[in-house]
Amino acid sequence: MSLALPSFTPAQESLFLTLGGRALDSRLPRPFLGDTMADEILTKVGYDLARFPALTTKFLDARSRVFDIAVRAKTLDDLVRRFISEHPDAVVLDLGAGLDTRVFRIDPPPTVAWYDIDFPEVIAVRSRVVSQRANAHSIGADLTDPDWLNEVPGSRPAMIVGDGLIAFLTQAGFVALLNRLVHHFPSGELAFNLYTRYAIWAVRHAPGMSVIAGGVVNPGFNDPRQPERWVDGVKLVDEIFLTRAPEVDGLSPAMRATARLAAPSARMSRLVGTVVVRYRFKSG
Ligand SMILES: C[S@@+](CC[C@H](N)C(=O)[O-])C[C@H]1O[C@@H](n2cnc3c(N)ncnc32)[C@H](O)[C@@H]1O
Repeated sequence: MSLALPSFTPAQESLFLTLGGRALDSRLPRPFLGDTMADEILTKVGYDLARFPALTTKFLDARSRVFDIAVRAKTLDDLVRRFISEHPDAVVLDLGAGLDTRVFRIDPPPTVAWYDIDFPEVIAVRSRVVSQRANAHSIGADLTDPDWLNEVPGSRPAMIVGDGLIAFLTQAGFVALLNRLVHHFPSGELAFNLYTRYAIWAVRHAPGMSVIAGGVVNPGFNDPRQPERWVDGVKLVDEIFLTRAPEVDGLSPAMRATARLAAPSARMSRLVGTVVVRYRFKSG
């Protein structure tokens, strides 16, 4: 089967890069993440991954092509799991959820309220290809629009995650969003993959990413403490370098050597690898 998709903007189409990465990972003999649902959804939609040469290039082996996407998703999943185990009454927000099925990977208890938010066009497709789940809600909205948060209960601790999102938000839009989130909930955590200035430049210029380059509007930031200066009450608690992830052992010798060389240095790790940042917040 293949769905007739609406014409997506580059930012919206980027969801197929991450979905495709997780789907290809699940086909590996020893996957990093093993999300077979991603592959089922990709098949249902019938999207042609050749539009993302980064996922199909012959210059990299199959594991290296999906490492960042799959291990970043796994890292963010672990952070959400930990928060939920400490706060079984949590609200979880997956910002720019695309067609990701994080809620199925994590399988939270019924006491957790889960919200997947993305543009209405994306949520319309999501509702056709992702199964419904009790206590999981989808909101179709532009995240930079302040109104959508009114649908989310604001009295419980919140775990807010953004996987592959920030590159597509303007700096002003991102900062305003962070402020609204932090003021909406009594306390919680924020976790997302950080885009350094170089990472933004690379996405804009890599031939394998040309389909989405036009949607990349964030300038990136190198200092993980920057959000502390943008929003009162936010504190960096973790900067996780994928160059130091145990999954590096499963990479090809050349990629493993690159990661190992960079791993001791935070600066080099930010340059060559994916970084996941975690912040705690308390509204003032
Ligand atoms: C790289 S994709 C990641 C999707 C998903 N998190 C995943 O890991 O598969 C970025 C997602 O952010 C969404 N997005 C970007 N800007 C947005 C905005 N202003 N409002 C709502 N969603 C947005 C896009 O539609 C897209 O689904």
